[in-house]
Amino acid sequence: MFRNRYAQRRHALGLRIGEGCIALIPGNTTRLRNRDVEYPFKQDSDFFYLTGWQEHDALLLIKGGEKPCSILFYQKNNKSTELFAGKSIGPKAAVRIFGFDEAYGLTSADLLYKKVRSITDHAQVVACTSAHTGPFASAVQGLERNGRGHDIKYLIGEMRLIKDAHEIDIMRRACTVSGAAHRDILFLVKPGMYEYEVEAELSRAFRRAGGDPLHAYPSIVASGKNACTLHYTRNSAQLKDGELLLIDAGCELEGYASDITRTFPVSGLWNKPQRTLYEIVLRAQTEAIKCAKVGISVGYLDEVARKFIAEGLLRVGLITAKDPDDAVLRDLDRRFFPHGTSHWLGLDVHDVGDYAWNKETARAERFLSEGMILTVEPGLYVREAKGAKEYKDIGIRIEDDILITRSGPVTLSHLAPKDPDEIESMMQCGML
Ligand code: GLY
Ligand code: MN
Ligand code: MN
Repeated sequence: MFRNRYAQRRHALGLRIGEGCIALIPGNTTRLRNRDVEYPFKQDSDFFYLTGWQEHDALLLIKGGEKPCSILFYQKNNKSTELFAGKSIGPKAAVRIFGFDEAYGLTSADLLYKKVRSITDHAQVVACTSAHTGPFASAVQGLERNGRGHDIKYLIGEMRLIKDAHEIDIMRRACTVSGAAHRDILFLVKPGMYEYEVEAELSRAFRRAGGDPLHAYPSIVASGKNACTLHYTRNSAQLKDGELLLIDAGCELEGYASDITRTFPVSGLWNKPQRTLYEIVLRAQTEAIKCAKVGISVGYLDEVARKFIAEGLLRVGLITAKDPDDAVLRDLDRRFFPHGTSHWLGLDVHDVGDYAWNKETARAERFLSEGMILTVEPGLYVREAKGAKEYKDIGIRIEDDILITRSGPVTLSHLAPKDPDEIESMMQCGML
């Protein structure tokens, strides 16, 4: 019945917004980096999810109702822009390939505005997603009526949260590429290398395997105390014997993100304090992953991880409390584990979808269901270590990407080793 998955998604959204409502979903525009050089283009994720269209400056219009109708407006190259950007796809091909009901290649924002107005003027409700800049997107600003923009974003977020078989296949492959890259790095790392050399190896692995030009996020390659800076991306330091290396890196494949973190010793051998803290994080992570089942709330995973982290912190003397529950209640663990345990993963690394956040309990109450993909990523970052100095400046995070299925959690990123003995023996092979 549907020409492709994008047409099916537009149809589903059209049914949900209903008769009398029009949704306007702008794609992204380009941005100049300097003079005439552009930043690499990345399509808006909602727009891509509903169209599959990868060109800049386009607009999707969906008329809601029992028989939804979708129209694509896009920027058509003229004779002079064609020379640099190539020929634009024709409207007939856009309809045939992408399954729109109508498509219009336009050369100016004025034309777009007139065409869109002629349709939206008859609608009771006009809802836009985000107001991106750019000539095509700004031409539709001000057309929104009855403030339903948030609803549309919410509805698309809920659709994107549950991955279909095609998306799961892509994300499985993305995690395979990234997991293998993390694994292969273990054979390469040696004291004296620079963080950026490791970053370059990851990029090479991602691109050679067909990953998108932009990775899912800037790679974090953080040695020693740099790992205590959560979003360290300078990647400029030299790796030193005796330090740990934290790598948080994931390719993007066919638009979908992977997000993996591993931490291991630069020398290939753990020292005692490093291994002690590593095992605390690993335990917290494996226990939380075990709980990632249909019907369990995403907040519960965080509770489990925090409890095991707090238990470890108490044991090594980094905090003092009656017991782990008391430590968590007083947020003592937050000094060393200052971020959440999980986030949704999809087209965006921090993907859309409601967490059902309860302000009173400060808990994400969304229940896990089949087809969701989320990260589980506890960490420990010891910036100060009163009374337990041997742990100072150690930063550890372990992060996997988990698919929720009826038969339990599936670790899509399993190729990246995390067992501390396995890491040691693989690294020893690399040092030979
Ligand atoms: N790489 C970003 C994150 O782990 O959330
Ligand atoms: Mn993450
Ligand atoms: Mn990450």
